[in-house]
Amino acid sequence: MSSSFSEGSADENPPASRHFDAYPRQATGLNPLRITVGDLVLKNPLICAAGEQTLTEAGIRAALDAGAAVVVAKSFNESEAAKTQLAHTDYALFSPSWERLAWPASTDHRTLRDANLLCRSGLQPRPFDDWLNAVALLDRQAQKIDAFVAASIILADLNAAVAMARKVEAAGIRLLEFNIGTPYADEATHGGVTTERSALRVRELVAALTAAVRIPVWVKLTGQSENVAALADGARGGGATAIIMIGRALGMLPDLDSMSPTLGTNLGYGGAWSLPLTCYWLARSRKHIGQAFPLIGTNGARSGEDVARMMLAGASAVAMGSAVMTGGYGIITEAIDTLSRYLTHHHCAASEIIGKAADRLQSFEEQPYRPEHWQQFVPKSD
Ligand SMILES: Cc1cc2nc3c(=O)[nH]c(=O)nc-3n(C[C@H](O)[C@H](O)[C@H](O)COP(=O)(O)O)c2cc1C
Repeated sequence: MSSSFSEGSADENPPASRHFDAYPRQATGLNPLRITVGDLVLKNPLICAAGEQTLTEAGIRAALDAGAAVVVAKSFNESEAAKTQLAHTDYALFSPSWERLAWPASTDHRTLRDANLLCRSGLQPRPFDDWLNAVALLDRQAQKIDAFVAASIILADLNAAVAMARKVEAAGIRLLEFNIGTPYADEATHGGVTTERSALRVRELVAALTAAVRIPVWVKLTGQSENVAALADGARGGGATAIIMIGRALGMLPDLDSMSPTLGTNLGYGGAWSLPLTCYWLARSRKHIGQAFPLIGTNGARSGEDVARMMLAGASAVAMGSAVMTGGYGIITEAIDTLSRYLTHHHCAASEIIGKAADRLQSFEEQPYRPEHWQQFVPKSD
């Protein structure tokens, strides 16, 4: 990789992205990490998800330098309430047995990997044109290192979203995320953000947006639905280029000392535990809407192994957020490295593992008939 966005001189601050020149190449000379999402060719399947880690230009540059193929800029919308919400945010990390962990988090990977993140977030507070220009410039710079910086709109008012999408395209930004599945709609000030749970409405919303622009639109869906695959079908029908799934859950954690809710409110809730839920809906959606349609996994990936797991479940690419926010941008580099080693070990390219496990799913009835088997799994009761 020839260029980097690191501000310091190359000697003082060697960019992590250089590291990727060392990746094993196939005999064909093609980059084995390369994948396609619709018409976009990505140099690897790693996406730095939108969040506080992509709230500033410096954060986006750091994610690009770490090697992410796509960095999704912190989401934006027109709602003043959503912008103000950033001043009301708070974040807490917990161990799996609910011990509060210090923030900034420990650098112990194991602790971070297993940590639960409870938080309430907000949106990009900068004026729209200002943020748009910044993202457009970053995307132009990203193009030089074969990467993308995507703009992200979280739905409040549809007409406003359509108008903003047009401006995103006019600014030259090559990729748009349309998030209609934040966890916070029931908590945030009314109308500030949307958790869309109707497949019909997903289709209508996505159709309105995709009719307005020609750039690829990746639609991000909620996991707070009894049928995410139906929502995915709606998004596909509405013209989405790819679907990102699944949005985080909402939770509430009482604090034993104060007998009050942690951080005072209901909270967005995520952790490594989410990975099987994400994989389940990736596999279900792949089956429901067809193997050819690109899915992107998010929610629960904490390492390169997890990226491979989501890909095996049907994801063409994987967006990591909390792991970067808590563990730093180097997590992206490590995940790409680990994925590369995994692919080398299995003698395959990233594109060849997409959906492999999903396509091997069997029904319960197909399993071996073993009437006594369950007895090994219960305590002795005589
Ligand atoms: C603090 C925080 C802020 C987030 N902000 C956004 C956002 O602005 N736009 C968006 O589309 N997703 C946002 N997300 C969701 C993440 O992009 C990501 O999809 C989610 O955290 C699940 O992935 P993870 O398990 O890797 O964190 C946010 C998540 C967190 C934890």
